[in-house]
Amino acid sequence: MADKRRFELFARFLAEKFPEARRVYDVAGGMGRLNEELTRLGREVTTFDVRHKRLPVRYAERYFTLDEPCEADLVVGLHSDGATQLCIEYAAKHGIGFAVVPCCSENGMSYNPWWKHLLKLAGERGFAAVGEHVLPMDGRARVVWGSR
Ligand SMILES: C[S@@+](CC[C@H](N)C(=O)[O-])C[C@H]1O[C@@H](n2cnc3c(N)ncnc32)[C@H](O)[C@@H]1O
Repeated sequence: MADKRRFELFARFLAEKFPEARRVYDVAGGMGRLNEELTRLGREVTTFDVRHKRLPVRYAERYFTLDEPCEADLVVGLHSDGATQLCIEYAAKHGIGFAVVPCCSENGMSYNPWWKHLLKLAGERGFAAVGEHVLPMDGRARVVWGSR
């Protein structure tokens, strides 16, 4: 069971790490709980996912792809399953920041090799800074981020 504090903790981390980012794409955001927390912190957030049952937040009911027009300063993925690497590629393509909290890998790797792979990938995509951070919670808590 994933830690229920993840939404608030990740939102707080994002607000501190990316204070300039007003518009946020929340990829694979499920019901929109991260959206709710980020909105509380003054961000304009769009959640991309396909849940019918969800919170009353700004929501694009579709799968996010690299072709999504970019009207964001930051793209984030919290336990975003098959869309984690996509967040990094999207940020690189559009010259914006990203932060992801990986859970399951997309290529059969186990957790540690997977987040190291994501960190390496980010390092190869020309971000001004890339780093990692651990949220103070149980379970998959490691953040990989990149800024412009
Ligand atoms: C483990 S859930 C996490 C949901 C939420 N972020 C959370 O932490 O509770 C993974 C979600 O990824 C979504 N997903 C996977 N690929 C996606 C994509 N390309 N675009 C949007 N959502 C995607 C699934 O529909 C699912 O809701």
